[in-house]
This record gives sequence, C-alpha cells and structure tokens, in this order.
Amino acid sequence: MSSSTSSALVLAAAVLLAALTVAQHGSLAAAAGPRVIIVGAGMSGISAAKTLSEAGITDLLILEATDRIGGRMHKKNFSGINVEIGANWVEGVNGGKMNPIWPIVNETLKLRNFLTDFSVATNIYKEDGGLYDEAYVQKIIDRADAVESKGEKLSASLPASGSDDISILAMQRLYDHQPNGPATPVDMVVDYFKYDFEGAEPPRVTSLQTTVPNPTFTDFGEDEYFVADHLGYETVVHYLAGQYLKTDSSGKIVDPRLLLNKVVTEISYSSSGVSVRTEDKSGVLHW
Ligand SMILES: Cc1cc2nc3c(=O)[nH]c(=O)nc-3n(C[C@H](O)[C@H](O)[C@H](O)COP(=O)(O)OP(=O)(O)OC[C@H]3O[C@@H](n4cnc5c(N)ncnc54)[C@H](O)[C@@H]3O)c2cc1C
Ligand SMILES: *[C@@H]1O[C@H](CO)[C@@H](O)[C@H](O)[C@H]1NC(C)=O
Ligand SMILES: *[C@@H]1O[C@H](CO)[C@@H](O)[C@H](O)[C@H]1NC(C)=O
Repeated sequence: MSSSTSSALVLAAAVLLAALTVAQHGSLAAAAGPRVIIVGAGMSGISAAKTLSEAGITDLLILEATDRIGGRMHKKNFSGINVEIGANWVEGVNGGKMNPIWPIVNETLKLRNFLTDFSVATNIYKEDGGLYDEAYVQKIIDRADAVESKGEKLSASLPASGSDDISILAMQRLYDHQPNGPATPVDMVVDYFKYDFEGAEPPRVTSLQTTVPNPTFTDFGEDEYFVADHLGYETVVHYLAGQYLKTDSSGKIVDPRLLLNKVVTEISYSSSGVSVRTEDKSGVLHW
C-alpha cells in the first residue's frame, strides 16, 4: 500500500458516487437517503469516505459485511500475542515521495516497526534439507534481475493506453528466461518472491506495464518496514476512520454512518436512482 497504493485502493473501493436514491426498509424514502454509499470498511472504503468527507460530502453511509473495520489489515490474538494475519509491511519508504501510510505508522501512531532486509540469497532451503549455496542463488537472482531490467525498458516503450501490454511471463519468454520461464527450484522461488508475492497473482496473468516497474517502489522508495506492534497494523484504518467518524471516549466508532454486519447482496440501478440491498440476521433490507 502507498499513495499510488492509496489511490489504487480508493479506485478499488466500491464507491457509488451516483446521486443515490435509496430505498430504506422497503419504502422509497428517496430524499432521506445518503448521497454516497460505500461498500466495505477496509483501507479503501475508509480512505474513500475520508476523502469525500474532507471535500464536504458528509452525507454518506458505509456498509461493512463483517463485525469490524480494517478488512485485510487484521490482527488475531494467538495464545495471548497479537499476530498479523493480513498486511504486515509498509511497502515503499525512503524514496522521492512520502508514502502517506509511513508517517502515520512511524510518527503519529508510533507503531513498533523494523526495516526488513530481504537477504534472499542466504536463506533458500533445499527440499531435502540444508541451504542452497549462496553464490549459486545470487547468480540466479542476478539473471532474474537482468531479465527484469530488459522488461522495464520494454514496459516503458509500450503505448500508455495499455493496448500492447503483455504478461510478465510473456516478457520472460521474450528475453529467453530459460527459455520458457523459470524452471529450476531456485529460479521458481526467486520468481515467486519477485512477482507472485508482490502481485498476488502468478506472472502468467500479471500485467508487465502496471507492475514492472512497481510504482509503489519507484515513487516511495525501495525500503519495506515490518510492523510488529501489539496494537496491530489495522490501527492505521481506525486512526483514519477516527478523523471523520464519531467515536466515544474509548475510541470506539459510534457514528451512525458506519453499519457493521451488513452484507451487500445487490446493487441495482434504475432511472429513479440506485438501490442497495443488504442482508443481515433479520433478513434482507433495502437501503
Ligand atoms: C495475507 C496478506 C498479506 C498482505 N500483506 C501486505 C503487506 O505486507 N503490505 C501491504 O501494503 N499490503 C499487504 N496486503 C494487501 C493489503 O492488505 C490490501 O491491499 C488492503 O488491506 C486492501 O484494502 P481494501 O480496503 O481494498 O480491501 P479489504 O481490506 O479486503 O476490505 C474490503 C472490505 O469490504 C468488505 N466487504 C466485502 N464484500 C462485501 C459486501 N458484499 N458487503 C459489505 N462489505 C463487504 C470486507 O469485509 C472488507 O472489510 C496483504 C494482504 C493479505 C491478505
Ligand atoms: C488475548 O486474549 C487473552 C484471553 O482472552 C487476553 O487475556 C489477552 O490480554 C489478549 N492479548 C492481547 C495482546 O490482546
Ligand atoms: C521513524 O521514527 C523514528 C523515531 O522518530 C526516527 O528516528 C526514524 O528516522 C524514522 N524512520 C524513518 C525511516 O523515517
């Protein structure tokens, strides 16, 4: 995540910006409905609502399926210790632009964090035990990096429209990576680490143009900080929410514009507006 992350996140949020006519509890209470409904109270939804709020659009409703905000930023109490089960790193720090998440983590909330030194070459294990030789692994990393550099040049030469975009795997084949993509165990580990881990999808389906180079790192810097704080990385989402949603003295969000346990099941558009249907324990409601 990062500002390009932030904006990517905001784009990803299911924000219904149309002038919403909302059917409340089955009746067509058009004028009374919120102007904006945001589906999901993860980083995207909470950030999108904050941006709207700051722009003076406060007549909004956030519908969240689960009983908590934060989405995939999520800690779990595991035998007395809070363990992150979702996002863990602030990715992209110490570059030209400031990653907007970083000052919140490191200065405002002072969440305990550590610079991660990914020394991949020194810790790749063989299937039958023992470590791979560091020099051998380094050679493979260097080759993967060299192929990626060629991919970066190709990526930069493609039309901005994306009409000629190709997958990362297609790019690797173009530059004779072995020659049909990574094949040896270490090549596959390095490939997984470079692409699947960052892109959350295999290189076969990942766009070259939008991920090579990765704007998170070109904009915000190469460094990554691991958040290891008992409060959890999700505190960032609570902090952002607390900027515009009403909280009680304990910090709990009590704003009526955030509704938890509301699973959106249908969004329908008609000439009279947009209708959002939610499901909860008492059945299906119309919002
Ligand atoms: C294991 C893991 C590790 C990660 N590690 C990192 C990392 O180290 N660094 C990093 O920057 N990023 C990391 N990420 C990615 C990061 O967590 C996500 O990109 C980010 O949290 C996504 O935020 P979001 O708001 O877009 O989506 P989400 O956090 O998924 O939020 C979507 C919200 O919408 C709700 N919702 C879904 N459907 C409905 C519905 N029908 N009705 C109502 N509500 C609905 C969900 O319950 C959820 O709360 C990781 C992700 C995972 C899963
Ligand atoms: C985890 O849960 C246990 C038992 O409910 C509780 O005693 C403990 O304080 C919790 N730990 C954290 C870090 O929240
Ligand atoms: C994080 O905060 C600490 C303490 O204020 C500061 O010394 C450090 O330089 C900050 N780190 C970065 C990378 O900004």
